[in-house]
Amino acid sequence: MDRIAIVGGARLNGEIQISGAKNSAIKLMVASLLTDEPLRLTNMPRLADTRFLGHLLTRLGTLVDERQGETGSETVLHTPEIVSSFAPYDLVRQMRASFNVLGPLIARTGHAKVSLPGGCAIGGRPVDLHLQALEALGAKIELHEGYVYATAPGGLKGAEIEFPFVSVGATEHAMLAAVLAKGVTVLKTAACEPEIVDLAECLNKMGAKVEGAGTPTITITGVDKLHGTTHAVITDRIEAGTYAVAAAMAGGEVRLTNTRADLIEALLQKIEEAGAGVERTNDGVIIRRNGARLKAVDVETGVYPGFPTDLQAQFMALMTLADGESVIRETIFENRFMHAPELARLGADITVSGTEARVRGVEKLEGAQVMATDLRASVGLVIAGLVASGETVVGRVYHLDRGFERLEEKLGACGADVRRIKGDASIPEMDG
Ligand code: EPZ
Repeated sequence: MDRIAIVGGARLNGEIQISGAKNSAIKLMVASLLTDEPLRLTNMPRLADTRFLGHLLTRLGTLVDERQGETGSETVLHTPEIVSSFAPYDLVRQMRASFNVLGPLIARTGHAKVSLPGGCAIGGRPVDLHLQALEALGAKIELHEGYVYATAPGGLKGAEIEFPFVSVGATEHAMLAAVLAKGVTVLKTAACEPEIVDLAECLNKMGAKVEGAGTPTITITGVDKLHGTTHAVITDRIEAGTYAVAAAMAGGEVRLTNTRADLIEALLQKIEEAGAGVERTNDGVIIRRNGARLKAVDVETGVYPGFPTDLQAQFMALMTLADGESVIRETIFENRFMHAPELARLGADITVSGTEARVRGVEKLEGAQVMATDLRASVGLVIAGLVASGETVVGRVYHLDRGFERLEEKLGACGADVRRIKGDASIPEMDG
């Protein structure tokens, strides 16, 4: 397995172009199951997760063509017919979001057998809301031996679905199923994340009738058929936020392009409060820090437009060197502080108690070997490594490769000393 070695101390100066969003791309890829015409996705990130999903879709009947288009990486997905409605455990466990093929498979063929994804390092992550939404739309669901068996011989029917709390995945899954249902579906307490808006825009270009995406109430009027289209994947706000934190940590001046400051406003305000400079631009944001010590600030994760849980580990890394004590509260996942003991190996002073972590800023971090249990935690360790004295080696880089495209190259171009140490090529266990 590969590792990433970082020699800390270099300031970051330069420009980083942000890729398309992993968490949007994988839902858009699934949307290709809803039509027999080609869906062309531009601004596509090349990641382990998109590759895994490509394997699953290929088994279901999708022709997946990854290519270099005029504007960068693109993928054309074409599913003339569904050749199998079976998503096996081995593929779903590698990438949880592949569970979202269930709704489109039922919508297009009337039946599906899809593995339950199981838990993951950051929490139990049940799919009860997904299944309740599909049942409300008329699917008959049975669970046997770790699999969901779903049928809807007469097709799916529009319904009013009120989620008990906000779930990004369940909102997306319900949208993916409801676009081909008969009649009107109303989703209440829907997630408002930008990736939901991106999915709605793509579905509408495919001929769907989705209104209200980005608000807590989404109305979907079912149509008989969807068609192909071209859609540019929304910018990856988590990648942008990660490099914004990296710049604030290392100091220097980094311009993030091909992105949108408004999508990471909750983070930018915290970076400003901590004392780094933030300049919002037409195509992104510039982060500046001249070397003065940052101040400790408190953070609580929340649903959009709140502070994203996917930036919590990175922000905790930033706070390890701040002046004072920062209280970080995680409200989305029950077990998302696994990076804290690893940051402590670098010299951080962190106490975790339930959903709260207290980070008391220290004067310096020292390089060490560390490893992470999930994608965002591992990049938090890379950020800490940027300022730790000596060398930090982050293990289990396969987590990083799931969601960060060419990380070493992007940070290296700004002056960071980051290199990949190649390991054996065995395919590791995945989650997330
Ligand atoms: C998405 O996960 C993202 N993943 C996550 O990013 C992100 O952290 C999360 O949204 C929150 O923004 C993808 O888009 C692939 P949820 P998702 O359903 O959809 C509970 C990353 O690193 N819940 O909004 O799975 C759940 O356990 C990943 O890129 C139920 O109880 O998140 C959690 O506590 C990590 N039952 C909460 O809701 C359900 O049926 C929110 O989860 C569904 C969810």
